Amino acid sequence: MSAIALGADHAGFALKQLLKVWLEGQGHTVLDVGTHTAESVDYPDYASAVTDALLAGAAERGILVCGTGLGMAMAANKVPGVRAASCVDAYTAQMAREHNDANVLTLGARIVKGEDAIEIVRVWLDTAFAGDRHIRRLAKLVALERKEHRWHVPAH
Ligand code: RB5
Repeated sequence: MSAIALGADHAGFALKQLLKVWLEGQGHTVLDVGTHTAESVDYPDYASAVTDALLAGAAERGILVCGTGLGMAMAANKVPGVRAASCVDAYTAQMAREHNDANVLTLGARIVKGEDAIEIVRVWLDTAFAGDRHIRRLAKLVALERKEHRWHVPAH
């Protein structure tokens, strides 16, 4: 497998470091896009760095860690072609691959810890897309991405 792009904000920094060591120990090449300290940062910047790596072909899959896994998933899923799934256990990790062909995994460091997080990553990496009827459904995700949306989002 080609490289795995790995990113986190401050809330996910410590878990990212743990996952990096584990992934490299498993023989994966890890492209660590940061953050590199526990100082407060903004999660969309790291979601963007990981999705940029995917779009550039520098990595085949991405893993993003924040406090909940939610902001990272929201940010990554703004990018066409990205299917980011926030997984909380081995079952959601398995389904994210089999049914959704998720190319980005997001984790919440305040939700899943240590060995549980590693198990989620292991299952997500080892599970293949099931194809079949799910191909049709993923094509509908692409159609949704390409559709013109006219709703104006209220600004904060
Ligand atoms: C940071 O406090 C937190 O908001 C962030 O890590 C993430 O959980 C956002 O979704």
